[in-house]
Amino acid sequence: MEYFALKLLCLCAVLGHSAEAASNGTCRNVPGSPGFPSQAEWDALNATVSGRLVAVVPSAKFCASLPGGACTDEQWESAVFRSTIPGAMNQVNWEQGYDLNPPSLCLRNATTCGQGDVPLYSVEAETVADIQAAVKFSSAHNLRLVIKSSGHDFLGRSTAPSSLLIHTHNLQNIAFTDAFFVGGTDMGAAVILGSGAYTNALYAQGKKEGKIAVGAFAATVCAAGGWVQGAGHSALSPTLGLGADNALEFEIVVANGDLLKVNQNSHPDLFYALRGGGAGSWGVLVSATFKTYPTFNVTSSTLLFGAANATVTASLAFLHAQHIFDWDSVHAGQYFYVEENLDPSTSATTPFVFNVSTIMPRTTVNESKALLAPFLNAALALPGVSLLLQEFNYIVVNDVLFHADDSVGVNEIVGSRLIPAATYRDSPATVGKVYEKLLETGAPAILGILVAGGKVAENANISSAVHPAWRTAKAHVVVVAEWDDSASLAEISQIRHLFQNVQAPILDELIAGSGASIGSYSNEADVLERNFQTTFFGPNYARLTEIKRMYDPEDLFIVGAGVGSERWDEWGLCRL
Ligand SMILES: Cc1cc2nc3c(=O)[nH]c(=O)nc-3n(C[C@H](O)[C@H](O)[C@H](O)COP(=O)(O)OP(=O)(O)OC[C@H]3O[C@@H](n4cnc5c(N)ncnc54)[C@H](O)[C@@H]3O)c2cc1C
Ligand SMILES: *[C@@H]1O[C@H](CO)[C@@H](O)[C@H](O)[C@H]1NC(C)=O
Ligand SMILES: *[C@@H]1O[C@H](CO)[C@@H](O)[C@H](O)[C@H]1NC(C)=O
Ligand SMILES: *[C@@H]1O[C@H](CO)[C@@H](O)[C@H](O)[C@H]1NC(C)=O
Ligand SMILES: *[C@@H]1O[C@H](CO)[C@@H](O)[C@H](O)[C@H]1NC(C)=O
Ligand SMILES: *[C@@H]1O[C@H](CO)[C@@H](O)[C@H](O)[C@H]1NC(C)=O
Ligand SMILES: *[C@@H]1O[C@H](CO)[C@@H](O)[C@H](O)[C@H]1NC(C)=O
Ligand SMILES: *[C@@H]1O[C@H](CO)[C@@H](O)[C@H](O)[C@H]1NC(C)=O
Ligand SMILES: *[C@@H]1O[C@H](CO)[C@@H](O)[C@H](O)[C@H]1NC(C)=O
Repeated sequence: MEYFALKLLCLCAVLGHSAEAASNGTCRNVPGSPGFPSQAEWDALNATVSGRLVAVVPSAKFCASLPGGACTDEQWESAVFRSTIPGAMNQVNWEQGYDLNPPSLCLRNATTCGQGDVPLYSVEAETVADIQAAVKFSSAHNLRLVIKSSGHDFLGRSTAPSSLLIHTHNLQNIAFTDAFFVGGTDMGAAVILGSGAYTNALYAQGKKEGKIAVGAFAATVCAAGGWVQGAGHSALSPTLGLGADNALEFEIVVANGDLLKVNQNSHPDLFYALRGGGAGSWGVLVSATFKTYPTFNVTSSTLLFGAANATVTASLAFLHAQHIFDWDSVHAGQYFYVEENLDPSTSATTPFVFNVSTIMPRTTVNESKALLAPFLNAALALPGVSLLLQEFNYIVVNDVLFHADDSVGVNEIVGSRLIPAATYRDSPATVGKVYEKLLETGAPAILGILVAGGKVAENANISSAVHPAWRTAKAHVVVVAEWDDSASLAEISQIRHLFQNVQAPILDELIAGSGASIGSYSNEADVLERNFQTTFFGPNYARLTEIKRMYDPEDLFIVGAGVGSERWDEWGLCRL
């Protein structure tokens, strides 16, 4: 692909740091430091967790060790397959130690392989006791601790160099109930999800029960992992609220090793933090309980437009902005993605596609067509726009949300902003201008996610750490950046800094005029976000800092751009 933007940027120096630094009061213990556990101590931990301690390697090294000496492309790109590799991340760039000194990489098919940003050991937890043992061991030995359920994280927060990993993938229990009690109060129908349970399993088992819960678009995101802690959006959010709005209770192992039951009555401060206060900063989730609803049918549709050039694409984005409220009467959720057209049969005439994929709850195909017609007809009247595909399906909501797997295994990062409803209402033309500028920076994809408004706005009075920008937003807009393994470290550094240096200020133009403050969804965002405290957590940061001090006074749970991370270096290895 073309990196159009490279020449616009400085070659920003990357601060080198060695993960092999000797430990002292301000750094965690790493191999070679006097306080690092001995082999006997690791063996003792392994015995405590019934042999479930494994040495971790990067996914490329794991693949090279397989009988055929490689993973197939199908395996490499499968989130389900990658979840069987303790060290694997879905976006493989997070396994690379680009910023280590010297850089430590393990690329697919390469002849050399460094450990990079991949943990040293993992506890493949199956019980609460496994988690407690790993937490206590990390505290006692001053280790860098990380937590992973699926490895989906776009900010690399579920991996770190020289760390011990707690992998909750095996906690896959799913239990539906018609009456979930918090204290003496019946909160109604609910589902208790283990922190390793995949979203697609929730949809499939829910169908058998005649139930649906708010969940992610991706098949293998763990609702009771990072998703809910960030806020958790869904195509059903305009109808049923955010994931965090639907959370009733959590079971969590906190830094002192205690297992806590957390709900509106019990540890209400932690209950506040776990709903929007950021993934990985509070303890190790064992399970989360969410409200469920009787299932219903939806009309799911795709309109795939081709656009002749970037200007036409921007006009389409402007037009879409003018129509974005057309579907509010049915509380639609929608993914409106601008992407480079990779289909060789149409890409010559239409280098960009605008893929508008809509879910309209309790709406027939004819009703749905009627609601989309004004936008569709106006789009087709634009010069340079063509309709490549049109599809409508009336279907049980569980089936439309169900996907068997996610396609991953690339080098990919994102940056994002929550876009106020006021911007779409008052200045849709700005939307078009911003899309054109973003495409000029070389962005291969701009993902619009209409998952706010409706119930998300109505839920503004829920007391949780969800960024208030969610309550006045209409959509979340995500700018994607990608690179191949052939990119040089200098090119990769440019791309990694592109969002903060160039694209965030462009996206901010969509917020500036509205009077709203700048907000971003912390789960689909740039880990290098400069003012992450306010951008990800808004006015909630001070309270979150207090809650963290109470439950995690020694900063055992530190993630990039998470609460308290300003006290630590990029890897969470040394205090600043
Ligand atoms: C293809 C794709 C599609 C997506 N679709 C959606 C979507 O529709 N809606 C949406 O809201 N988001 C979506 N996301 C973003 C998603 O919410 C985040 O990637 C989220 O971090 C995933 O959480 P996870 O636990 O599955 O991932 P992981 O990478 O395992 O973990 C992410 C973070 O959560 C922490 N964490 C994980 N498990 C635990 C645990 N047991 N206890 C405590 N902390 C834990 C980790 O430490 C890390 O900080 C998508 C991401 C991808 C890659
Ligand atoms: C702790 O170790 C780090 C890395 O070696 C070093 O930079 C730092 O100065 C040390 N701090 C103290 C207080 O010794
Ligand atoms: C932990 O113990 C199991 C079973 O005894 C063993 O197979 C595994 O290699 C051990 N892990 C480590 C890291 O030594
Ligand atoms: C690595 O090898 C596999 C076959 O084993 C091949 O399909 C793939 O394209 C190669 N990937 C890279 C990045 O070279
Ligand atoms: C359009 O986007 C949806 C997700 O939003 C995706 O499932 C679908 O495959 C895309 N269709 C095309 C033709 O790109
Ligand atoms: C949907 O609209 C088409 C064409 O307008 C019509 O023929 C059909 O009967 C309608 N279907 C329903 C279920 O109303
Ligand atoms: C983009 O396409 C439109 C419609 O085909 C055309 O009118 C316009 O001149 C093109 N713009 C550029 C910059 O090529
Ligand atoms: C819901 O859609 C399914 C098809 O997925 C259909 O069989 C069923 O009859 C529909 N139910 C209702 C109530 O319309
Ligand atoms: C929020 O407001 C709605 C009415 O708008 C009310 O039904 C609900 O109980 C309120 N919730 C809280 C937590 O105050």
